[in-house]
Amino acid sequence: MKVLVAPSLLAADFAALGEAVSMAERGGADLLHVDVMDGHFVPNITIGPPVVRSLKRVARVPLDVHLMIEEPDRYLEAFVQAGAARISVHAEVLPHLHRTLQVIKGLGIKAGVAINPSTPVSAIEEVASDVDHVLVMCVNPGFGGQTFIPRSESKVRAVRALLDAAGSDAPIEVDGGIDATTAARIVRAGARILVAGSAIFGARDPSAAVQELRASAEAGLDS
Ligand code: DX5
Ligand code: ZN
Repeated sequence: MKVLVAPSLLAADFAALGEAVSMAERGGADLLHVDVMDGHFVPNITIGPPVVRSLKRVARVPLDVHLMIEEPDRYLEAFVQAGAARISVHAEVLPHLHRTLQVIKGLGIKAGVAINPSTPVSAIEEVASDVDHVLVMCVNPGFGGQTFIPRSESKVRAVRALLDAAGSDAPIEVDGGIDATTAARIVRAGARILVAGSAIFGARDPSAAVQELRASAEAGLDS
């Protein structure tokens, strides 16, 4: 599979989200990453279903919704109705992770599991063949603009090995500190969906930044 680029709107100007969507799409974004935070699972608060619904009206590419919230089960249907095409839930908050993944898939969209830097790969072992993608956090979730944790590279390799052993071709998504420097490394380790916030919306020309990120990622694919 080729590498998909998913600009994270968290780093965009929230007063001009429509323009951020257009800039990302002009640069060739494959997905739009939407960070939902509740002030409990992570220290920050961001957005909910109404904003996703507005984004859905203007976006041409699928919305990739990352739920950093304590009780995702309560909100799955609302996010799907709002227009999410993919939802990632965190393993850390879900004692019944398998059930939650089935519910998401039952709502007709792709289901992913996300793991924090301190969460072992073994936490997702039993759902390896049930997920549509695995989101490996390369920073501690809650804020954009943090530094990539180098250990994420070996973690991505371990997740890839786990998925392969389960006979799954689910792609690995990476999130946090992804830029032109870290992209090639993490793609080489096995990541195929790159989320990037500040590297794209912090750039002078976000459309060009999407293209640059893709070029760096593809260099990792070839090496
Ligand atoms: C962090 C979020 C990320 C964030 C990434 O908790 O899940 O999606 O937007 O931001 P950057 O790319 O700036 O590290
Ligand atoms: Zn995210």
